[in-house]
Amino acid sequence: MAEQKATNITYHEGNVTREERVANMGQKGCTLWMTGLSGSGKSTVAVALEQVLLQRGKHAYRLDGDNIRFGLNKNLGFSAEDRAENIRRIGEVSKLFADAGMITIASFISPYAEDRDAARKLHEDAGIHFAEVFVNTPLEVSEERDPKGLYKKARAGEIKGFTGIDDPYEAPEKPELLLPTHELSVAESVQVCLDYLEKAELI
Ligand code: ADX
Repeated sequence: MAEQKATNITYHEGNVTREERVANMGQKGCTLWMTGLSGSGKSTVAVALEQVLLQRGKHAYRLDGDNIRFGLNKNLGFSAEDRAENIRRIGEVSKLFADAGMITIASFISPYAEDRDAARKLHEDAGIHFAEVFVNTPLEVSEERDPKGLYKKARAGEIKGFTGIDDPYEAPEKPELLLPTHELSVAESVQVCLDYLEKAELI
């Protein structure tokens, strides 16, 4: 967990309540946290889900591992420490988006349970709905898909510390949702997420 460096700072409350924000947005914000191996289908489902939600007039926004690493997290690599910081920052950003009323879809490998649990706690402590979505496509299928050719490079020793090959992935123990994308079509995976959001009265 990052150390608090700044001193002499005071939290400044606003005048807008969460209820007012929810009424204004016409929805409650939340975070759907997609975790799984590279190539498991996180980004594909996230893209499709975001589109369907917008078509339904909902406000949704995607935060994606590769994309965020071009900007906010461009100074982070793939050591355990950097991955933890990656997820810490995205946990905070997701919480802010969700607090603002967005259905936030975060798709990050997020291989360490401790880091994902910290993101969950951050939301739950703030009274914001957080759901862990385990995209539990097996390694063999993810590797067979290899959309970016990275497994091939990792197997050839050209990438060190690649998740699933020579770096760990800790599967969630109690995810709210499972998305076995080797058994579901993209549309079916999206439907699983929509059903969850409806049941939780988030859409
Ligand atoms: S995380 O582990 O810190 O959560 P994140 O989701 O941001 O990872 O980024 C993963 C993406 O970075 C992968 O989909 C892949 O395209 C790329 N990548 C590059 N190097 C690695 C690596 N060593 N391990 C995993 N993914 C990598």
